[in-house]
Amino acid sequence: MANLAVIGGQWGDEGKGKIVDLLAPRFAIVARYQGGPNAGHTVVFNGQTHALHHIPSGIFHAGVRSVIGPGALIDPESLNEELEGLTRAGVPYAERLTISERAHVILPLHRVLDAAIERRLGDDAIGTTRRGIGPAYAARAHRWGLRLVELGDADAVATSVERVLRTGIGDLLEEAGEPAPTGENVVDWAAHWWNRLEPLCGDVSGLLQDASDRGEPILFEGAQGTLLDIDHGTYPFVTSSSTTAGGIPAGVGLPPRSVDRVLGVMKAYQTRVGAGPFPTEDEGPLGERLRRVGHEFGTTTGRPRRCGWFDAVAARYAVRLNGIDALAVTKFDVLSGVDPLRIAVGYVIDGERVDRPPAAASAMARALPVFEELAGWNEPIGELRRLEDLPRTARAYLDRMAELSGCPIGVVSVGADRRCTIIVEGGLLERFDAHA
Ligand code: GDP
Ligand code: IMO
Ligand code: MG
Repeated sequence: MANLAVIGGQWGDEGKGKIVDLLAPRFAIVARYQGGPNAGHTVVFNGQTHALHHIPSGIFHAGVRSVIGPGALIDPESLNEELEGLTRAGVPYAERLTISERAHVILPLHRVLDAAIERRLGDDAIGTTRRGIGPAYAARAHRWGLRLVELGDADAVATSVERVLRTGIGDLLEEAGEPAPTGENVVDWAAHWWNRLEPLCGDVSGLLQDASDRGEPILFEGAQGTLLDIDHGTYPFVTSSSTTAGGIPAGVGLPPRSVDRVLGVMKAYQTRVGAGPFPTEDEGPLGERLRRVGHEFGTTTGRPRRCGWFDAVAARYAVRLNGIDALAVTKFDVLSGVDPLRIAVGYVIDGERVDRPPAAASAMARALPVFEELAGWNEPIGELRRLEDLPRTARAYLDRMAELSGCPIGVVSVGADRRCTIIVEGGLLERFDAHA
């Protein structure tokens, strides 16, 4: 038995939700390890589309446990909406879901602060999802955050609020038109949500450790993507957590050797939502076409995503950083009819050729992509299920993606629906069909 990480190799929205839902039946557990409702993971099957934010994308499968680790954030109000959506869809989540009581809580004031800070920054804003992610992870680092386990403890809640207010954050909130919270208000709010969520909470790390002892296979589901990682992404235009494979052990509470293999999900082109450098961005007709054909609008915020050509410099970086064993190439169908195609094989920064993303966002913003041109294809490919049925030029494009990224391709996704998938024969995933 082995555990698999499924993580984003770009700037998020690579199609992780689709791939995790597809692979979940091969595992006993699907575990989220970081992020919160900034994530928007879409799962499509039986003609229905489901958008998930906190909840792991394995939730639609009976017999698969979905868990949220201590490294993730929980916004009780938004989680509750998500749970109600699952109830409407007839998904019995209560018997499948466990949330770590150690996970930190996003308070309403974190959402207000996120938006207020973004407004203050104006043109220099990060373009966050305004879900309170930065302020809630900052509270965790400051050590005045609240975890789920504290919500039921009125003294702990009151102490945390009192500490926050002593920092002067109340002034910023009032300036944003939001009354500063009182200990009493937050205690009531916390008690209400603890009451609702306690039955779903538990010791997720212990649960995963026990499952590992029994040899049960675990799938780790990443949120956001490699280039949004707090340490390794295009800082400061990143999210506030460790999105890369390195974040998994800390985020779930398992030893590092628990991650056996890594599947890196990458679109066949590049997108980004929010501000920050994006060397292969196309602000002309190509970008417009990718956005239209690929429906590139945010699952969480509805914002149009910025689009451009596949960036093999960034892909290679992601492969080496995460130890990606195979790629899941998604949205391959969107490239039908684009001819010729381009892939960035290097950057030129200030006249110098480089083949790794630079550390400074300002240097990345000056990077001029060096493109290689490849022949496209015109036929739709959404109904194809075998690699050998793809047009010759499509296979050549995949071969080039693999060669430039430095790792083989294990899955090719040719449509949003669970069925629209090509599993590469002899590829990484054959290792993972054992669990019945
Ligand atoms: P995630 O955040 O990585 O889970 O990705 P999102 O769900 O935010 O965005 C991916 C979008 O592309 C969703 O609307 C998916 O339904 C859709 N999608 C996923 N794979 C494919 C594919 O191969 N082809 C097409 N056309 N759409 C896809
Ligand atoms: P999934 O899991 C794409 C981006 C935001 C912003 C930056 C910081 O669906 O791939 P935050 O709200 O996290 O403080 O915003 O990160 N961002 C995402 N972009 N997909 C996501 O999640 C994202 N989560 C955050 O747009 O640029
Ligand atoms: Mg998404």
